[in-house]
Amino acid sequence: MRDADVGDKRVLVRSDLNVPLEDGHIADETRIRASLPTLQLVLDGNAREVTVCSHLGRPKGSDPAFSMRPVEVRLRELLPDDRLRVLENTRFNPGETKDDPEFAKELADAHELFVQDAFGSVHRAHASTVGVARILPAYAGLLVERELVELGRLLGAVERPFVLISGGAKVEDKLGVLRNLGGKADVVLVGGKMAEEIRAENPLPFDVVLPTDVVAADTFAEDAETKVVPYADLPDGWLGLDIGPETRKLFAGHIARARTIFWNGPMGVFEWPRFAAGTKAVAEAVASADAYSIVGGADSARALAELDLADEVSWISTGGGAALELLEGKDLPGVAVIPEGT
Ligand code: 3PG
Ligand code: MG
Repeated sequence: MRDADVGDKRVLVRSDLNVPLEDGHIADETRIRASLPTLQLVLDGNAREVTVCSHLGRPKGSDPAFSMRPVEVRLRELLPDDRLRVLENTRFNPGETKDDPEFAKELADAHELFVQDAFGSVHRAHASTVGVARILPAYAGLLVERELVELGRLLGAVERPFVLISGGAKVEDKLGVLRNLGGKADVVLVGGKMAEEIRAENPLPFDVVLPTDVVAADTFAEDAETKVVPYADLPDGWLGLDIGPETRKLFAGHIARARTIFWNGPMGVFEWPRFAAGTKAVAEAVASADAYSIVGGADSARALAELDLADEVSWISTGGGAALELLEGKDLPGVAVIPEGT
């Protein structure tokens, strides 16, 4: 979009303003802040009007709990400019997720140029991410560009050792990345629920480093009875809710030697302080490593932010699923639709 002439034009920008809400309040504004450079650039280019659109959550119909208004209020505080407005949640229209051409036309109407800046949503082929780009001259925004450059570094030649750290609960989502990048990594560290799955039956054609010990809990509760046991001796009916102290040291040692790191997914149920030590240890090790480090996924990013370590890594991706699909080697429909060179 750097070369786009937006002067006097009415510009439609698709951002990913899908922020977590708690009781109607924005719980984390990372994505709002990440959308600002592109909007600022369009405003500085003397656009006549700038319309921002995004989805928020997964509402069934026009549910006011998913209204974009609190996001608009915050965005306007951060970027006070009368030319800027934010459309209501694109998913309030049933045509959005079906990439309905009628809805795409409705969005495109009254605009002369489209900027795709919603990196977190480019893996979705929806009316606001793909449909409008077929109608209006379409450009990639600064965030999309930066994400592709940073994440793309992991797909090219990397400095070694390259350490891949995978955790969290959405196992299926992450196996694709492990399949695509795991063979290239020098060390693959696996914690969280991922570890259980891989221990049971490793579906990967290479070795991974699994936890040796685990913080076991007798039930899935914040105040559960706990004990540290060797991973192989997890008593029947007990759950592993964090990696144990020996594993934390083992993982931290690998991470300290890394020159390239990709980390996605917590090592345990880190929202509960008693099961946060593993994720903390990994966050601290990634932050202090002398490496090019990328952290993806809302949970790992949140863990870094809570530890005040967000500035200590090379890049925090605003895309969860989108980053994973890119690293899996999949095509991203919201990127593919943008003509080359724009
Ligand atoms: C995300 O948070 O992963 C993106 O905004 C996409 O949201 P979705 O998974 O509901 O499509
Ligand atoms: Mg998601």
